[in-house]
Amino acid sequence: MEVIITSDYEEMSRISAELIAQEIRYKHDIVLGLATGDTPVGTYQELIRIHKEEGLDFSKITSFNLDEYVGLPPLHPNSYNYFMKENLFNHVNVNPANIYVPQGHIEDPEHFCFWYEAQIQKAGGIDLQVLGIGRDGHIGFNEPGSSFASRTRIKALYKETIEDNARFFSHQDDVPRFAVTMGVGTILEARKILLIANGEKKADIVAEFIEGPVTSQITATALQLSKSATVVLDQEAASKLKRTEYYNWVRDNKHLVQKKVGR
Ligand code: F6R
Repeated sequence: MEVIITSDYEEMSRISAELIAQEIRYKHDIVLGLATGDTPVGTYQELIRIHKEEGLDFSKITSFNLDEYVGLPPLHPNSYNYFMKENLFNHVNVNPANIYVPQGHIEDPEHFCFWYEAQIQKAGGIDLQVLGIGRDGHIGFNEPGSSFASRTRIKALYKETIEDNARFFSHQDDVPRFAVTMGVGTILEARKILLIANGEKKADIVAEFIEGPVTSQITATALQLSKSATVVLDQEAASKLKRTEYYNWVRDNKHLVQKKVGR
């Protein structure tokens, strides 16, 4: 796992957006996995800037979002469908036919989950999966105890997740108790993974998932099993890591390795 520690939220967003942009430039018809939440908002804003000012072309990309609340229609302002339109899709030249966000307001969610997995396979699998992390260590809505083999399915949300997400709703009781989420197994099949995290409230879980043992109790530790995972953090989220000096040395001397192995 490559760990990049940045000075603040702005630099974290700039670097993660540049990593995504590089992948889009390299493969125009890339399949992206996308996350919602506070963390990637700055990254999406920077991607929009790169699109507008530098012509980054989204027209051939396909994207699959990680999750959606069960019960919220796509036009609900707290739905992740709405979030993605507001924060990215409405501002870049994506083809709406190639945009997939799980639907939470449907009669047969289980059937939907099978269909969603099949669409990911049909698209050739995810090239780059973008992730945030919950305070309980979740990726997507894979709450503690989720199997590392899990696929897209309905998951009951953990108490901490409901509390954290209550800020977007008028009352905590309005926060849906269930979500459709890609599984840990689905996420692990991505060819590359980029997890971003910021703020002091993520410091404990960031240290645990990067430097602690692999456990389904902290589903983000599954990234230790990924073929290619990069974590971009701000100073605060990185503050409880023990091997900071090593990560910074690798970051500053990466060019030495890249010269030897190429891209
Ligand atoms: C959202 C998602 C979640 C969030 C996580 C962090 O699509 O999959 O795992 O990434 O809950 O949320 P924020 O960024 O709001 O702290």
